[in-house]
Amino acid sequence: MRTNDAQMLVLSALADGPLHGYAVNTAIERMTGTRLGRGSLSGALARLRDKQLIADLPGEGRRRPVRLTERGRRTLGRELDALADVAGQLFETVVPDRIAYQERLNTTDQARAYQQVLLDALDARPGGHLLDWGCGTGAALPALARAATARGRVLGIDHDPAMVRRAAERAAGLPGTAVLRADVHRLPLADGSADRIRTDRLLQHLADPAAALAEAHRVLRPGGRLVAAEPDWDTLAVDHPDPELPRAFTRHLTDRIVRNPLIGRQLPRLAERAGLAVRAVVPVTPLYRDVREADRVLGLRRNTERAVAAGHLTERQAGQWLDHLARGPFLASVTVLVTTAEKR
Ligand SMILES: C[S@@+](CC[C@H](N)C(=O)[O-])C[C@H]1O[C@@H](n2cnc3c(N)ncnc32)[C@H](O)[C@@H]1O
Repeated sequence: MRTNDAQMLVLSALADGPLHGYAVNTAIERMTGTRLGRGSLSGALARLRDKQLIADLPGEGRRRPVRLTERGRRTLGRELDALADVAGQLFETVVPDRIAYQERLNTTDQARAYQQVLLDALDARPGGHLLDWGCGTGAALPALARAATARGRVLGIDHDPAMVRRAAERAAGLPGTAVLRADVHRLPLADGSADRIRTDRLLQHLADPAAALAEAHRVLRPGGRLVAAEPDWDTLAVDHPDPELPRAFTRHLTDRIVRNPLIGRQLPRLAERAGLAVRAVVPVTPLYRDVREADRVLGLRRNTERAVAAGHLTERQAGQWLDHLARGPFLASVTVLVTTAEKR
């Protein structure tokens, strides 16, 4: 015997105690954002009574409260376990290793779209000396090598040994391309030695983005250009009938997970302070309609669990949040700002 969606919603609404019909629909609206139609609510109540999953308490007419029976409580538990299984299979439960995470993120349509804007803004010329700061696995090195041609030089820079190893494998077949393990706060590079600096989602992680921008100013030649793509995590918007739940999730990311969550919007100001002239700021807003795709980037379940531990969401809210995301339709977006700045 399966319960349909309307019956399941009524059972869930009664989980915390007896309610009369009108209050059942109010509780359903709080959970899902919509009320059941009158026919659908009375149909669900009648079917649940027939199956002895709910029972009437003493009371007057339509104000007579209903409660879950023991059988109803067991059915609800089974249905919720089945849903949790679906959510468990849908959402990633283990943290992927850093290399795998970066590799697959770079192959998404969403990343490709803003990275193309970044590459166009870089305007790298043949013979140029190009730096990719925080190059990660080196995914951008082939495109930079093509732009610089064999006459130019490309240097990927990252402080993580594993990233440097992976990027060096990529660089091996590319003319004029090498990878350096170094910290972008203090680089072993000569003043005025670079034509272009590309950086993609690096500054959000840095201990001191202003110091790194001062270093960019030092390393660039006059007229040289820095192009940086950085998210503004305060713009992370996820659709849910109760807007407080995505707000709490976003607040958790900005307060606890990302070191510089607002760097996207702050970067033009910090770049000007470092002596660079900001030439353009282009917002690109990746949109996710597939919850699995979004999960691979946002770690929806992992970060929801952390949000519960941090007190940003209750267990119950976390359940409502993930169940709704798993059922769909799904929509999420976050704005990445691509800033172009030049050394005067
Ligand atoms: C979010 S990943 C982006 C990787 C790469 N830009 C890409 O698009 O695939 C950030 C990278 O910055 C590197 N990183 C973080 N802090 C750094 C620092 N202080 N100096 C150099 N690299 C750093 C990390 O090791 C990581 O590879």
